[in-house]
Amino acid sequence: MRRRWLQFAAAGAATSLAPASWPADPTPGVVALDLCASEGAFVQSLYIPGGEGAQARLALGSERLTMRAVAQSDALAFTATASGRRFTNPTLVVDEGSTIAVDVVNDLPEPTATHWHGLTVDTRNDGNGEAPIMPGERFGYGFTVRNRGGLYWYHPHPHGATASQVHRGLFGLLEVDDDDQRALRRALDLTPGATELSLVLQDRRAGDADRYAPAPEDELLGWYGCLPHVNGVLRPFHQVAPRRYRLRILNAANARTFRLAFRRDNGTPVPFALIGTDGGLLEAPVQCNEVLLSPAERIDLVIDFAPVGQGGFVIMESRAFAPMHDVRTASVRADAGDASHAHRPAHAIADGAPLDLLQFRVRGSRSPNPPLPKRLSRLPAMPASTGDDRPLRLSFAKGRWRINDRVYDMRAAPIEVARGGSETWLLRNYHTSAPHAMHLHGFQFRVVERETSPDQLAPLAIGSNGRVATDLGLKDTVLVWPGESVRIAIDFRTPFVGPQIYLLHCHNLEHEDAGMMLRVKVD
Ligand code: C2O
Ligand code: CU
Ligand code: CU
Repeated sequence: MRRRWLQFAAAGAATSLAPASWPADPTPGVVALDLCASEGAFVQSLYIPGGEGAQARLALGSERLTMRAVAQSDALAFTATASGRRFTNPTLVVDEGSTIAVDVVNDLPEPTATHWHGLTVDTRNDGNGEAPIMPGERFGYGFTVRNRGGLYWYHPHPHGATASQVHRGLFGLLEVDDDDQRALRRALDLTPGATELSLVLQDRRAGDADRYAPAPEDELLGWYGCLPHVNGVLRPFHQVAPRRYRLRILNAANARTFRLAFRRDNGTPVPFALIGTDGGLLEAPVQCNEVLLSPAERIDLVIDFAPVGQGGFVIMESRAFAPMHDVRTASVRADAGDASHAHRPAHAIADGAPLDLLQFRVRGSRSPNPPLPKRLSRLPAMPASTGDDRPLRLSFAKGRWRINDRVYDMRAAPIEVARGGSETWLLRNYHTSAPHAMHLHGFQFRVVERETSPDQLAPLAIGSNGRVATDLGLKDTVLVWPGESVRIAIDFRTPFVGPQIYLLHCHNLEHEDAGMMLRVKVD
């Protein structure tokens, strides 16, 4: 149950995908916290996609691709066949300016919708869940790729069941290539699947507890597991050469934020260069010791294993942080007390707990290790605001997460934005709240500044406007801490004719499903 895509891979006749045998699932029911500790970790190797099977790269050509959403016991996945190869949750690879033509066939016993997270699409292709694909039906997505090179993803968006379907594995990566991406690969001599690795993070629970059935606490705070998986494998190891590697990382967890960092086995931190964010490459690399990665965010980084040397180890970890979940469940259930001390199931550990994620084993002798280019790309100019800030208050009242005091209703009047202009939005999170990973459909935005950030963000701040390294690029998802205000700038020029409906929501999927979502009309 823990290895969603790999399970499908094994069933899909591809032989090169999963190891022949896996350690047995931990005994269901007696899930102790020691399963969550890092002891005994790094026994399984990292799953690296091959030419077919789970997560394998599939270059989209001009022919339509059919992806079937299928269920196998508890696990869900997209399956596809192309050029005689069979794929499960393929990593779709497209060039900027090319066309995506994908038919999604819903072979699930429940409605679904496929959302292209981060991509500039019209409402028809947005898969926002307001017109779901019913069981047995098919929907043809077709649009031009208007985004810069970068790592995006596709995932289900049926309202109220997004969390459940994502947790059960129904999602995949989407790589957009452009000249800057090709130049970077040449400069660093990168090969996808070898020296360039895509890593999908998801936290799971052990055994039967991993069945998606959120308790009231989970529904309020988000679904947290205790077993961090990378590419579907629990705390794996991976052998690397003493050279630079590019890591493209998606946080596909329902609710957990990772405070990503790297350390040697003696505990010394290993710095890295942040080279990209949600919407593609930064203009120049930024040296970092750690970054926060909230649900749905992506980062692109380069880490150099050469200084570690032959025989050394580097652990990718999530460092401890204060989760700042400060919500009184009293308003949900009179007897529950304070949710920040809620009785969590033993198989869930709180947001902010330290986790070891992946171990790199540095082996082999030194070989050429080209340096990181000083310039990576050019970003579009920061949109200049043409009016007052639009305030968007993130709050909790009467047992519900809210945006501007409202809970999502697909029949409600949307907020209205004039096409062609730019706006600055002020995302203001109340003190008595939780961190919210705010995501806007259809547009990449820029982070202008952060104000009244919690103290724990101070070490991450770059420059005087409170921004952190991951705020420097194009973004579609931004984490807003309790008490914090984040100002974002959005360019609402759009190529699409007629009014378009998009969504602004929290990407903590339990918050989203519970209605922390707002309709946005661009016309
Ligand atoms: Cu990644 Cu509306 O979602
Ligand atoms: Cu989205
Ligand atoms: Cu939230």
